[in-house]
Amino acid sequence: MLHLENLSFSVQNNGQSKQILKNINLQIERGKLYGVTGPNGSGKTTLAKVIMGILPHTEGHIYLDGEEISGKNITQRANLGIAYAFQQPPRFKGLTVQDLVKIAQPKLKNLSIRKKMRDVGLCPEDYMDRDMGSGLSGGEMKRIEIMQVLARSAKLAIFDEPEAGVDLWTIQRLVDIIVGIYKNNPEAAALIITHNRNILPICDELIVFEEGKIRLQGSQAEIWPLIRDDIVCQVQDTCRGEEII
Ligand SMILES: Nc1ncnc2c1ncn2[C@@H]1O[C@H](COP(=O)(O)OP(=O)(O)OP(=O)(O)O)[C@@H](O)[C@H]1O
Ligand SMILES: [Mg+2]
Repeated sequence: MLHLENLSFSVQNNGQSKQILKNINLQIERGKLYGVTGPNGSGKTTLAKVIMGILPHTEGHIYLDGEEISGKNITQRANLGIAYAFQQPPRFKGLTVQDLVKIAQPKLKNLSIRKKMRDVGLCPEDYMDRDMGSGLSGGEMKRIEIMQVLARSAKLAIFDEPEAGVDLWTIQRLVDIIVGIYKNNPEAAALIITHNRNILPICDELIVFEEGKIRLQGSQAEIWPLIRDDIVCQVQDTCRGEEII
């Protein structure tokens, strides 16, 4: 469905070019759940933003169902079925939670919006009319952001650290929902950027980033045993058993 070919992204930093993504080649197929992981700063969020058209890649090609979409903007890519849930959701002053979901999916009826809110662990009575500009906690913002992507029924949904700032109980619920929608779905695929040891093993394919490049890529069965050992080492060294890489 999505094909990235020799994709690179550079920024100008103090008059010098800094390459953030280096020659990425990736094939995303329908019916699969992809887990993307790797150290902080390795380029995962940048990749998501380049796919969504938020950042313009500097070299290479992006094809969606065989069509080159490199020249298309965010709205055009969204209309083609790509959706992105931000790692740090932007705050929109003057928009209510309900407005935001309706923008994402205008056809959605109030009853369905209420159900989607409950799916992500938010009580509709308390949140439907809340302002997106201020007052919502980080975890609440994150759940609303995820709900917005789920509401879109996108053919390619990208979740950027859906677990970040979300309590453990809700993480499991969100994971179950994402898996329920995207695993073995012949129409769609999801890419989950995550450091979470519970999410990575349930993905079909794993992609490990390092310094702007894909270090490892393959089936869960092939890659998970390799990175699980990495995680164990790092957890022992730095995190005293916390479930992060
Ligand atoms: N505009 C920019 N100018 C300079 N450096 C940038 C710019 N945008 C991104 N970077 C750098 O690119 C690298 C990749 O950032 P990115 O946000 O993609 O990392 P990440 O893998 O998502 O990390 P994390 O796990 O912390 O979310 C980082 O070192 C970041 O500082
Ligand atoms: Mg990131």
